[in-house]
Amino acid sequence: MKLSRLVQSISESPTLAVSALAAKMRADGKDVIGFGAGEPDFGTPQHIIDAAAAAMNNGATKYPKPSSGIPELKSAIQDKLKRENNLEHDTDDITVTVGGKMACNLLIKTLIDPGDEVIIPVPYWVSYPEFVRLAGGTPVFVQGSEANGLCVTADQIRAAITDRTRVLMLNYPSNPGGHMYHPDLVRSIADAVAGTNVTVIADEIYDRLVLDGTEFLSFAAASDDAYARTITVNSASKTYSMTGWRIGFVAGNRDVVKGVAKLDSQASSGAATFAQHAYAAALNGDQSCVDEMRTAFIERAACMHERLNAIRGVHCLKPAGAFYAFPNVGGTYERLGVSGSTDFSQKLLAEANVAVVPGVAFGMDDHVRFSFATSMDNIDTGLERVRAFVEKH
Ligand SMILES: Cc1ncc(COP(=O)(O)O)c(C=O)c1O
Repeated sequence: MKLSRLVQSISESPTLAVSALAAKMRADGKDVIGFGAGEPDFGTPQHIIDAAAAAMNNGATKYPKPSSGIPELKSAIQDKLKRENNLEHDTDDITVTVGGKMACNLLIKTLIDPGDEVIIPVPYWVSYPEFVRLAGGTPVFVQGSEANGLCVTADQIRAAITDRTRVLMLNYPSNPGGHMYHPDLVRSIADAVAGTNVTVIADEIYDRLVLDGTEFLSFAAASDDAYARTITVNSASKTYSMTGWRIGFVAGNRDVVKGVAKLDSQASSGAATFAQHAYAAALNGDQSCVDEMRTAFIERAACMHERLNAIRGVHCLKPAGAFYAFPNVGGTYERLGVSGSTDFSQKLLAEANVAVVPGVAFGMDDHVRFSFATSMDNIDTGLERVRAFVEKH
């Protein structure tokens, strides 16, 4: 059957594809260690599951009303933004979405017209360029350098802005880089976009997973100008280990978040009602579950950093946030006889049963992404396999 040009023009998410391939190899009896999954390896905390069950028992099994989000969740989000992000938003400036992915996708569709440009720092989360292309826009890539901790500079952003620039996508802590933007850098980027027509989409879904003690400054909290031009995205997925609940939100300029709600009313009719109650319980409840996860990620980040840097031809910045290490493995390519990160990842999976995501999916072909949302035992065994794989060649 003929498929639309639109569907043919986009690629399947490579991160989901790696997880699916590793799962298939495991089902075939192979002992695969997966560093592909972008989801915490912890269960959703019990009090959140209990809140969802109670909500279902109380009838939260119908369409969410309004489709832009139930009032209890909007007010829990409002409190979260004030408490954790120093942001004051009216509940009318918040729209609940089916996860952070839908939030970003609908935001791009709400903000850009064909031909508009969207600035995307590299490395980037795989889906951003696809969202821009789906909306007929043009991604404009700005390269973060390893010397600058993979961050882009304010001058680079300034230089990338043209008459057609409509949006700047920012994401820190970062997927895939595991890097953080220091508050001084955040403020200087806020200065670079001040007075322009650029709207900033601040994807802050890892805001509670800063691992190196750097202060997290929400982009919208950087200045009054930044507050006015920023739409903040967040979700339950990473903070509360709720990836399967599919729930997130956008907050900011009322016209924009209402635009997202309008699109979503025709796309999904809103996020599952009981998941909305669960997210409200997560935001309003005891936060020690988040601290426990973060503590585990801090320990794993240190181990990943040390073990990866001990491998010949590999060097890696210490992950400062999220749960990803993004080593440069380009120094191994010649010895391994591989042409890039896809080749490297395929050979590693075939010869050592270790799954990683090729960095080319994130715009950097000398790198691969390791998610350390997996046990210390898996990290230990997996990294020993990677070392042996690289060094046997
Ligand atoms: C940077 C970033 N943004 C958004 C998402 C989407 O998350 P979700 O749709 O599960 O909220 C992800 C998921 O991996 C991500 O890494």
